[in-house]
Amino acid sequence: MPSALAVASNRGPLSFSRTPDGDLAVRRGAGGLVSALGSAMRGRDALWVAAALSDGDREAAYASGGAVEREGFRVCLLDIEQATYDRYYNEIANRFLWFVCHYLWEPSRAPSVGPAEREAWASYQDVNRRFARAVAEGTGEAAPAMLQDYHLALAPRMLRESRPDLRIALFWHIPFPEPDYMSLLPDAWTHELLTGMLGADLVGFQTRRWARNFVECVRELLGAKAARAVQHEGRQSRIGIYPVGVDPEHLATSAADPAVKKEKAILRRWLGDRRLVLRVDRTELSKNILRGFGAYELLLERRPDLHGKIAHLALLTPSRRDVPEYREYIAECEAGAKRINERFASVDWEPLRVEIEDNFPRALAAYGMYDVLVVNPVFDGMNLVAREGPTLNRNNGSLVLSRNAGAWEDLRSAALGVNPFDVEGTSAAIERGIDMPAEERRERAVRLRRLARGKPPSRWLERQIKDLPPPA
Ligand code: F6P
Repeated sequence: MPSALAVASNRGPLSFSRTPDGDLAVRRGAGGLVSALGSAMRGRDALWVAAALSDGDREAAYASGGAVEREGFRVCLLDIEQATYDRYYNEIANRFLWFVCHYLWEPSRAPSVGPAEREAWASYQDVNRRFARAVAEGTGEAAPAMLQDYHLALAPRMLRESRPDLRIALFWHIPFPEPDYMSLLPDAWTHELLTGMLGADLVGFQTRRWARNFVECVRELLGAKAARAVQHEGRQSRIGIYPVGVDPEHLATSAADPAVKKEKAILRRWLGDRRLVLRVDRTELSKNILRGFGAYELLLERRPDLHGKIAHLALLTPSRRDVPEYREYIAECEAGAKRINERFASVDWEPLRVEIEDNFPRALAAYGMYDVLVVNPVFDGMNLVAREGPTLNRNNGSLVLSRNAGAWEDLRSAALGVNPFDVEGTSAAIERGIDMPAEERRERAVRLRRLARGKPPSRWLERQIKDLPPPA
């Protein structure tokens, strides 16, 4: 039966795998988008279209003969041939669109577009078409269709062509660049991306800053008329700002799990009575891990009195390991960490520990314990670590926060803001977090906790649905 609401995103809310005794095990899909949308969607009469990402996902899709119904979700998993998927996801989404939106290229070297990249672009178009088709087939008359993120920039326009009755929204979870940087993409791609996005009735962003950049892009690069809405080719798309936060109740329940208690004991044994400087990130260039380590190194250089009294833990979830730039970056981060330990470690003190694994219980345990949380992305749409940490911290911890993270807009009054490119400045902010008098720490932490808990995901989705035009 067609659904009253549809959502489409590359990564779905569930991930399936075959257990040794032959059952199909299910666990929560990874990533910020899934955490935000998952808690807003669970239990609704809604279809969630996502890509099958593993053999387990494909098996689950075939076994159900259509949409898989588990854990309060109805999910349609698209089985996309591996080579096509790689070109769409690794090449275009992760090497091109992620890079352009986070300003990750050094223009003297990249990007460089040749025949292989053009072939990858054709796969990106193809996968967007398949998503649009699946939403068109599974969604009821005049229903809201909520498409997610840079993987699906072309899908709104494609969907509109086949189902003009649907009320289409596209939410862009990551930053949007200014026109000059956007123009590093080939002109034809830029045109197709912007007009593809404008196929939606509503284009949503995490913050005013990313929305403003988008409006400037459509004005300058498409010649569209734009203010709070964009007029282009006889249609209107509304521009909206919908910051997404965390679900504090769900986080608290997860943090109360016995697995988290166990992790806490392990961390406590490692840390002893030292102060904890923490970072929790995916292994990913925009997170600015290398400059973060550099800032910590400067602090150890400047403050021998802190040797043996603090320790830095970097919990990094593996991400996008098929993309060479990501692998090289992480190798550099590991080399940087090794150098710091070689310079400063003593028999009973490990100054910096880097753990690269998917261990959410350990991250939750560390959130409860940190003295300083470092969140210094180059650019970031929102950054949920900056909200999860203060929501769970029990130690009046400080937050060092990049002014280029979307979360900065909400948390600025209580966080220690940094320019993420300024390693010395970041180092000084970590130092300030360590040295902060107890009363100021407490006062800021109370404020942070309150601000970080704002913007729950359930309201985030509702607000967008409400802002769609009424059914014709
Ligand atoms: O919006 C950013 C995002 O797509 C989020 O889903 C998540 O934080 C992350 O990137 C996940 O990336 P991937 O699905 O490529 O692992």
